[in-house]
Amino acid sequence: VQAENMCDGQGLLENNHAGHHGAGFWNFTNEVGSSMLMIVEATASQSTTLQIYYANGTAQNRPMELRINGGDAVRVEFPSTGAWDAWHVVEVPLNLSGGRDSLWLLSLEADGGPNVDQLGFLAPDINAASCEDEAPVTLKPRVQKQPNYAPSHYDLLGRPRSAENN
Ligand code: GCU
Ligand code: CA
Repeated sequence: VQAENMCDGQGLLENNHAGHHGAGFWNFTNEVGSSMLMIVEATASQSTTLQIYYANGTAQNRPMELRINGGDAVRVEFPSTGAWDAWHVVEVPLNLSGGRDSLWLLSLEADGGPNVDQLGFLAPDINAASCEDEAPVTLKPRVQKQPNYAPSHYDLLGRPRSAENN
């Protein structure tokens, strides 16, 4: 599932560091609460492993919170990869419902998250779902330290979300 299939978030889709898959990667805004919403669809309920492909060109960890369907937060550490064009994988176990599941990644520190290239699953038949407007509403991040946070009203092509044809 490529970053460019995400449904909402605070950051920018960029491609200025080599080695990413697909069209680009998600650059989280460097502040607490910057985010990425990916909605995935599985054909069967299951326990699987989420693989997050990322780069962190700094020396410090970039911790994030992962929330599935707005539920309990899991803290995920993203250690240095040594350079912004060096991509590593962290793995997180998770349970999928067998329908649509929302995955929010939220930055826990002021430096924001790492750059995220794609999400993979150690199971077949798990794909990016269409972004439906109602999906994110009850799942907004609890981590909202900055006063002026507003979820993007534009999709990754700069179109107003109301004009999206998903
Ligand atoms: C650099 C890098 C970005 C990265 C940012 C960061 O500006 O080019 O891709 O997101 O650092 O510190 O988060
Ligand atoms: Ca960043």
